[in-house]
Amino acid sequence: MDAINPLAPTRLGDDERAGLPPWTYFNKELFQLEQDELFRRHWQLACHVSDVPQEGDWTTFDIAGERALIVRGKDKLVRAFHNVCRHRGSRVVAGESGRCKSAMVCPFHGWSYNLDGTLRAVPKAKTFPKLDPVTHGLVPLEHEIWQGFVFVRFKPGPQGSVASLMAEHEKEVAPYRLADIKPYSPQTRDILEVNWKAVRDVDNEGYHVPIAHPALHDLYGQQYKDGRPHAGVSRSEGRITGVAPRFWSVRNYVKHRPDMAHLPDEAKGRWVYLGMFPNLVIMLYPDLVGYYQELPVEVGKTVQRMAYYAPRDDRREAKVARYLAHRIDRVTGAEDAQLIKWSWESMQSSGFSNMILSDLEAGVRDYHDTLRAAIPVAALVSEPAKGQVETINQTLLASRS
Ligand code: FES
Ligand SMILES: [Fe+2]
Repeated sequence: MDAINPLAPTRLGDDERAGLPPWTYFNKELFQLEQDELFRRHWQLACHVSDVPQEGDWTTFDIAGERALIVRGKDKLVRAFHNVCRHRGSRVVAGESGRCKSAMVCPFHGWSYNLDGTLRAVPKAKTFPKLDPVTHGLVPLEHEIWQGFVFVRFKPGPQGSVASLMAEHEKEVAPYRLADIKPYSPQTRDILEVNWKAVRDVDNEGYHVPIAHPALHDLYGQQYKDGRPHAGVSRSEGRITGVAPRFWSVRNYVKHRPDMAHLPDEAKGRWVYLGMFPNLVIMLYPDLVGYYQELPVEVGKTVQRMAYYAPRDDRREAKVARYLAHRIDRVTGAEDAQLIKWSWESMQSSGFSNMILSDLEAGVRDYHDTLRAAIPVAALVSEPAKGQVETINQTLLASRS
């Protein structure tokens, strides 16, 4: 009897080999539905607690017309608020991150807020009716800290807690001690002139790795596997083979990476990716941790945000391994950028009707299934008439219950 190969792909049925229809990649009404149904109602990773290490440290996170403000209080607690002044809605803090001593002062008319969000002072307060510090404080935002990562949600949604979504992976994740990592490199933001789903499509399968990512293929060899999702979270892994790598970065990474004693043996030899619907991937390497996340701006414009964190390990070989792992990732990202652009362009070509997915691309299919479950109108083969996308979606949702 053949041994079971854990890296063998899932078998797709013949009717499962098509992807989302091309119209879904450039329809503006669907884009608005996605903003509301996906990005406002699903958990969004805003930052890591190490991004706001001291009291008064703050960072911001914007998506789908919403603005979040994460700030560490005098009591050391990390809190999340809408970054919206209660006076006339200005941003209370501007920019991506900063530190304030004991109050956040709105740049418009100078209302100030304590680090716990309560209203502190109002210039010329007597010109207003009496304002209550709590009820007129910053509006709290639903948030959850999972393994040191701060997630926010702008509107109630279909998902359970982040911990419940990640429960299946908790045992694997625990040894990485994610709550204790620290920022490794400045956060990057790449502007991609594509629909955000084209980014996900390229990222959601490893079939293209041997051809499109020679350095990554050098690292993994044939030892790459995409798992099926559970609760919208999927797991992929590449095992570090170290068989005669041709690329300088890979060769030296394999050769010099140190023993990460806090990890179990199997985790020392692989790169793991946890993909969380709709727009996040957390990377767990033995020596480096990070995430990338798509922020849809327009139907044909997406910002991809990336951030890396490192274990507290000052050994020289640990620093070398981090540098090389990061370098390999940046090369991979640049290679993907071109593929993403071509995928997006194909959706507008009269010569392209739909994808023909391999078993090795089951991750693309799974992702599209999750999206169709959340927004059923996206399953329609033909583009709805103008003004009809939301109505049809409502009808399809109602027909389910
Ligand atoms: S809008 Fe903030 S003080 Fe006026
Ligand atoms: Fe790729």
